[in-house]
Amino acid sequence: MRGEVSSEHSNQTAISRSSFSGKVGYVLAVAGSAVGLGNIWRFPYLAAKYGGGMFLLTYLILMLTFGYTLIISETVLGRMTRKSPVGAFGTFGKSLPYKFGGWINAVIPMLIVPYYCAIGGWVTRYLFEYLKGNASLLAEDTNFTDFISDGVSVEIWFLVFTFMVVLVIIAGVTAGVERVSKIMMPLLVILAIFVAGFSVTRPGAFEGVKYFLIPNLENFSWMTVVAAMGQMFYSLSIAMGILYTYGSYMKKDVDVEKSTTQVEIFDTAIAMLAGLMIIPAVFAFSGGAPETLQAGPSLMFITIPKVFASMGFGNIAGTLFFLMVLFAALTSAISLAETGVSTFEDQLGWSRRSCSLLMGVIMLALGSASALGFSVLSFVTILGMSILDFFDFLSNSIMMPLAALSTCILIIRVVGFRAIAEEVERSSAFRRKKMYNFFLKYLAPICIVVILLSSVANVMGWITL
Ligand code: PFF
Repeated sequence: MRGEVSSEHSNQTAISRSSFSGKVGYVLAVAGSAVGLGNIWRFPYLAAKYGGGMFLLTYLILMLTFGYTLIISETVLGRMTRKSPVGAFGTFGKSLPYKFGGWINAVIPMLIVPYYCAIGGWVTRYLFEYLKGNASLLAEDTNFTDFISDGVSVEIWFLVFTFMVVLVIIAGVTAGVERVSKIMMPLLVILAIFVAGFSVTRPGAFEGVKYFLIPNLENFSWMTVVAAMGQMFYSLSIAMGILYTYGSYMKKDVDVEKSTTQVEIFDTAIAMLAGLMIIPAVFAFSGGAPETLQAGPSLMFITIPKVFASMGFGNIAGTLFFLMVLFAALTSAISLAETGVSTFEDQLGWSRRSCSLLMGVIMLALGSASALGFSVLSFVTILGMSILDFFDFLSNSIMMPLAALSTCILIIRVVGFRAIAEEVERSSAFRRKKMYNFFLKYLAPICIVVILLSSVANVMGWITL
């Protein structure tokens, strides 16, 4: 019965629905979505802060179990129903819980992409300054804070980045999203290898390589697990509707399990390269001083420009580094915006161009608010947070765990493991079926609840993440 629902659905929508041209396009587009600011900006500072090698080991274990389970679940539901999240949940029921599950997955990318573009604007400005040869200006102590408190400048760079994203979205799935990913992702890998090679060969960098790669039990704490789990969600683009949407564009003959593994390897390899770029460079610069390593979010915009300026070749290293970050941020922002557009197409029935423009308007409104939250709108705080931090908190810490939980419940209670396995087996054997069932039933719900509770406890000040 369930199988009938899904195939009937696919027949109805197959004619008009966009799709990736094949396996390579699909893997590169999903990898493009996964590899983003999360890998290059967030992963290294979390790894530096929460135990180096121990964090890396915990992250790898979680990714291969919990992460794998959620990626397969969302991708298969997307491909089975050929719908973005609202339609996918709606295929199985029309009552409130289905509406909630669908919409929470669909709204998350619409809330993330505006502030993601604000940060993308900062990255574009840094690249521009490096291209002009301003490495020493960027290394000045107050450069970053001066920049984000200059409303006009921040807004202009935000608009430049957002314009690039909207252009690709209007171009469409194959001609826009897939083509950009196919060009940018290989370039990104080359740049990442190059910059990491440069960084690990600096004098004094080897201590940093050891800290990052060798697990040391002394550096392990409960926070290591919680931080690694949150990072995994963020990095793999889980629980934000993207994998439903990209799954819905996936051809039926693409091997779901294999492409998931490839995306995980790609995403983790880039995160590890980013760790190898940043942690050894910071060690070489500061001798591993804890305050520098724990700098947190400002590591990429304040510490790294100082490190580059002090190493010589500052302008070249900075240009290559920020070019790579720009590619990563663009492909991810495109996937977030594409998910919003796909929801509008499915739900409103408008043309792709109109849906892209509607998404553009949302990005402009919410993104400008986030971008200006450190200058013109700095008087606005929500729960003590800036507008950008609030959107990040709301989406990542509260809504994403709820969205992931909805997916787990949908599969456990309604869709059933059999239907998931059948969909995977349309294109290949489901090699890790038993593991998938076990993780989905037991591990995933527990991990999700842990993330949700820790995030709330963090905001209430009961624990510090
Ligand atoms: N997975 C991408 C990254 O790591 O940057 C894109 C992303 C999506 C990041 C959603 C953050 C986020 F909340």
